[in-house]
Amino acid sequence: MAKSIVSVFFFLLLVLSIDSGSLLKLANGQGKTWCVAKPSADAAALASNIDYACNYLGLKGQNCSQILPEGTCFDPDTLINHASYAMNSYYQAYGRQPHQCYFTDSALISISDPSYGNCQYA
Ligand SMILES: *[C@@H]1O[C@H](CO)[C@@H](O)[C@H](O)[C@H]1NC(C)=O
Repeated sequence: MAKSIVSVFFFLLLVLSIDSGSLLKLANGQGKTWCVAKPSADAAALASNIDYACNYLGLKGQNCSQILPEGTCFDPDTLINHASYAMNSYYQAYGRQPHQCYFTDSALISISDPSYGNCQYA
C-alpha cells in the first residue's frame, strides 16, 4: 500500500517535470534557434557570407532588402549586423541545420532571438 503511494508520487513528479520542460520550451519559442555572425569573424568572410546567403535566399523567393539603407535592419550599419541578418535568413530558409550556420567557422547558432527594435529576425 505505502509502496504504491510512493510509486504514484514519483510517477506524478515525472509527469510534472516533463510538463514543465515543455512549458519552458514553449516560453523559449519551442526550441527555435537563430544564426548570427561570430564577433571574431573577419570582414572579408562576413562580406562574402552576405553575398552567399542573399544569393541563395533569392532562390527561395526571398531577399536581403531589410539590410539595405531603407530596410528595418540596416542600422547599425556594420558588416557584422548585416551578415548576421543575412546568415540567419539563409539558415531559416534552408532548414535550420547546424551546417547551414557554419560559414567556414564565422557563424554561431543562437538560442535567443536576435531581433531588436523594428528589425525582426525570421
Ligand atoms: C523582398 O522581399 C519582401 C518580402 O517578401 C518583398 O515585399 C519585397 O518586394 C522584396 N523585394 C525585392 C526587391 O524583391
